[in-house]
Amino acid sequence: MTTPDHRDQLIFELSTPGRKGYSLPAHDVPPAPLEGGVPDGLLRSGLAGFPEMTEVGLVRHFTRLSTWNYGVDTGMYPLGSCTMKYNPKVNEAAARMRGFAEVHPLAPDEAAQGALAIMHALAGMLGEITGLPTVSLQPAAGAHGELTGMMMIRKRLITRDGHPRKLVLIPDSAHGTNPSSAHLCGYQVREIKSCARGNLSVSVLAEAMTPEVAGLMLTNPNTLGMFEDEICDAARIVHEKGGLVYCDGANMNALIGKARPGDFGVDIMHLNLHKTFSTPHGGGGPGSGPVVATREFEPFLPTPVVVATRDGLRLDYDRPLSIGRVKAFHGNFGMILRAYAYIRALGPKGIRESAENAVLNANYVRARLRDAYEVPYDRVNMHEVIFSDHKQNEYGVTTLDIAKRLIDLGFHPPTIYFPLIVHGALMVEPTESEGLDELDRFVEAMLQIAEEARTNPDLLKKAPVTTRRSRFDEATAARKPILKWTRPVG
Ligand SMILES: Cc1ncc(COP(=O)(O)O)c(C=O)c1O
Repeated sequence: MTTPDHRDQLIFELSTPGRKGYSLPAHDVPPAPLEGGVPDGLLRSGLAGFPEMTEVGLVRHFTRLSTWNYGVDTGMYPLGSCTMKYNPKVNEAAARMRGFAEVHPLAPDEAAQGALAIMHALAGMLGEITGLPTVSLQPAAGAHGELTGMMMIRKRLITRDGHPRKLVLIPDSAHGTNPSSAHLCGYQVREIKSCARGNLSVSVLAEAMTPEVAGLMLTNPNTLGMFEDEICDAARIVHEKGGLVYCDGANMNALIGKARPGDFGVDIMHLNLHKTFSTPHGGGGPGSGPVVATREFEPFLPTPVVVATRDGLRLDYDRPLSIGRVKAFHGNFGMILRAYAYIRALGPKGIRESAENAVLNANYVRARLRDAYEVPYDRVNMHEVIFSDHKQNEYGVTTLDIAKRLIDLGFHPPTIYFPLIVHGALMVEPTESEGLDELDRFVEAMLQIAEEARTNPDLLKKAPVTTRRSRFDEATAARKPILKWTRPVG
C-alpha cells in the first residue's frame, strides 16, 4: 500500500548519485592557491548532501510543487479583509525596469531623480485620492502604517499640549492590529461596542470621549463591510474634545474615487498598497502601508521626505519635529512603483469603477446567498459581506467545515471566525477583479455546500477530500512550519 509518507518520498526523494543539471568543460587551468591555505580537514572534496538532478527533473519538480499552491492567478480568493485581488502584470514589468530595479538606495539625489519622481508623484496621488495631502511612503505594512500614524498623533499632541493623553477608543469590530498599534505607542485602549446595525454608536462614543482620550481609531468601511455613515458626527465629537481621528484605511478599495476620508473629518490614516492598489501580498511580504494626513501633521512625518526644489527633487532630513525613520531606506520601493503603475493605468475613471465593482460584487454574493446562509447584518454592504454558520449548525456543520469543503470545490476559503463579534463568521471579499462567471461559480459552490450540510454533513466533516493532505493543526503549521522534506527516520 502507498502511505502518504511513501507517496511523498517518491515525489521528494528524486536525487540519483551522478546526475547533473549542467554540462561544463573540464578545468583547463590549475586551481588557484588559496591565500593562507585552508586546513585539510575543512576542505570539501565534493558537494555536501545536495540533491543530484537533471535540469528537466528539477524544472518539473518545482513546477509540480507550484501547481499544488493556490493563488490569485489560479482563481477567486475571497479572503475577507485581505483584498486578494489580481496583480496586473504590467505593474511587474514596470517594477523590473532596470533603471528602477537597479537603482541603489544610497544613490545621491541627483542620480535617483526618476525614483524620487515616482515617490513624489505617488504621494501626490494618494493625497488627492484620500483628501489628506501629507504623505509618508515608508511604512512596510498596514500595521506598520498604524504604528507610524499613532506615533505622529502622539508627537502632535505632545507638541500641542505638552502631553500625549492616555486613551485611544477603538470599536469592537476593529482589526486586531489597531489595539496593538495604539498599545505599542503607550496608549490604553478602550473598546467601543458597535450598535445593532454593525456601526460605531455615536452616543457611546460621545460618552467615552473625555479629555483623557487622544483619539478614535476607526476603520471605514469597517470590518463588518459597513460604511460608517455617522463618521462626520463622530469626527466632530472627537475634535470638540481635542482628540484626533485615526482611520484604518485598509479597506479603501471600497471608497477610492468615490469618497475622501479627508472630507469626512479624518486627521490621519494608513493605506494598504498591497490591498487597495493591487501590489502583491501573501506569503509574508513585502507590503506597503503609506500614511496620509492633514497638513498639520507635516512637521512630524518620518524622515527623509521627498521635496521638490528649484534644482529637482531631494530627500529632506532636516525636520526637527519628525518622529524619525520608521523603515530602512525609503520604504518598499518596488511596491511604490507597482501602485504608481496601477493608478496611472486606471486613471480617475478606472479608480472609481474599481470601487464600484468591489461593492457591487460583494452585494451580488450577499443577495444570492442570503437564503442559504445567515447574514447577520443583512443590508447593503460595501466591499465585503459577512455570513455565519448559524443555519448549518442545525446539522452539526460549522464554519470550518464549510471553508474546508470550498477547497474541494476549487476555491480558497474566505476569512473565518473574524470579525470576532460575529459567531461563526465567514467573511467573503470577492474583490473587483472577479467577473460574473467566477462569482456565479463561487455562489454555486456555496449553495452546493449548504445542500450537502443538510443531506451529507459527514462529507463536510471530512473535507477537504481532494487535497494531498486534509486537515492539519493550523496553529502548529503556522508557528512551527516544516518547510523542507526530510526523509522519515527508520
Ligand atoms: C482592516 C485592516 N487593518 C489593518 C490590517 C493590517 O495590514 P497588514 O497585514 O498589512 O499589516 C489589515 C490587513 O488585512 C486590515 O484588513
